[in-house]
Amino acid sequence: MGLRKVVVLLFFYQNFAWLSWVSAGKIPGEAVINLGHKNPSWVPVVQTSANVSDISSIWSYFEFRTLDPEGTIFYGDTKEGQDWFVLSLHDGIPEMQIGKANILVSVKGGPKLNDGAWHKLELRSEGKYIILDINNKVELMVGLESELIQDVVTGNIRLALGGILVDKTKLLHSFKPAMDGCVRRGHWLNISTVWETDTSLEVWPCFPEIKKGSYFPGRGIAVFNTSYLPGVKTEEQGITIEVYGSWHGTLLSLQSPGFKYVLSDLEGHKEDKNLTMELKEGSDSGEPTNLTLNILKHSLIVNGKSVVEDETLDILSSWRDGMQLAFGGVPGEIKDSNHLQACLERILIQGKDIDLDEASFKHTSVSSHSCPAKAINELT
Ligand SMILES: *[C@@H]1O[C@H](CO)[C@@H](O)[C@H](O)[C@H]1NC(C)=O
Ligand SMILES: *[C@@H]1O[C@H](CO)[C@@H](O)[C@H](O)[C@H]1NC(C)=O
Ligand SMILES: *[C@@H]1O[C@H](CO)[C@@H](O)[C@H](O)[C@H]1NC(C)=O
Ligand SMILES: *[C@@H]1O[C@H](CO)[C@@H](O)[C@H](O)[C@H]1NC(C)=O
Ligand SMILES: *[C@@H]1O[C@H](CO)[C@@H](O)[C@H](O)[C@H]1NC(C)=O
Repeated sequence: MGLRKVVVLLFFYQNFAWLSWVSAGKIPGEAVINLGHKNPSWVPVVQTSANVSDISSIWSYFEFRTLDPEGTIFYGDTKEGQDWFVLSLHDGIPEMQIGKANILVSVKGGPKLNDGAWHKLELRSEGKYIILDINNKVELMVGLESELIQDVVTGNIRLALGGILVDKTKLLHSFKPAMDGCVRRGHWLNISTVWETDTSLEVWPCFPEIKKGSYFPGRGIAVFNTSYLPGVKTEEQGITIEVYGSWHGTLLSLQSPGFKYVLSDLEGHKEDKNLTMELKEGSDSGEPTNLTLNILKHSLIVNGKSVVEDETLDILSSWRDGMQLAFGGVPGEIKDSNHLQACLERILIQGKDIDLDEASFKHTSVSSHSCPAKAINELT
């Protein structure tokens, strides 16, 4: 109970610190900036522009931290997006895509960066080359030459973090843009840059230290259409959902027309009361912990115990056709006071890891790939 209160307070406290900048729509270039927590995910979290004539060199460096294998980090363009540059992660490895004149280039290489540690990234343009240094070592280098390329001497150069300013169809290849990561100590174009942010976007703080998992602070949900999730192999085995981590509130819900199941630790959910008691055993924090939900044609089984049984149901057919599977609450219940508070270390469906970045809807409060590393009450 004590933990729960502190979590809420700290969130408000951190948001207040940020509001003072965000309400003005300006963020200092060297500030800690969270690239995640926004919708739609291609839209940058911050952007800025400068007059090309004020810039002595195309040179930026910053520190970057993530546990997310895929997403947008940095974007730059000139000529209103006719020439553009995108730095992203793919399988944790940095990738640059460049569009210039009629050329599209993509290069990928270097170390995996999604280890939760801060890495120094440096981007510079030297003559016909664009170079990416990671932790002070050259890791990627691209040379571009064409008679069609003209040096840009006028106009604006635009920069953005966590999204892009051109249409995604211009990319050589697309990727999952959402990036659960943070940037700090940035120096952009070797000038004193101030980021601008869309004041309608809520800019989220970064946790001082992170660990692997999906974090639900108790404010919203992530929803999947089950027809896009791993499917039924045999009717006897059905579908198995495994969740690792300790939690408070509504863990998940499963719905289709005429069917609704909510798995929650709330006293009010009578059908789960025995389950909650059972889950609490052996958990040192006193909270429900690891859970296995087995979905069969006519029944749902939670940790070996049947919670739904109805011969008239065909839940597996509904799963194939597309049910709503929500983690963290029940879709449509706006005043849900029992939203999940949890760090879910892993979510597996049919043995396959589920990435919340692939949800059809995810509330901006949910972190797909990182949880605060320390119990939040230790931070205060
Ligand atoms: C960055 O700016 C400083 C001061 O304006 C200048 O002395 C330095 O040469 C610049 N660095 C690069 C790489 O352009
Ligand atoms: C950039 O600066 C130059 C020289 O100061 C000025 O003539 C030009 O209008 C500026 N361009 C933009 C897009 O602000
Ligand atoms: C809870 O468990 C008790 C004893 O095992 C049983 O009598 C009772 O019906 C169960 N309640 C529910 C809601 O399953
Ligand atoms: C939950 O699962 C993890 C990973 O398998 C395991 O290390 C941990 O002991 C489990 N916790 C409980 C209370 O069973
Ligand atoms: C899930 O996707 C399937 C296939 O695209 C669609 O027919 C179904 O209506 C969707 N279900 C929901 C709940 O959106």
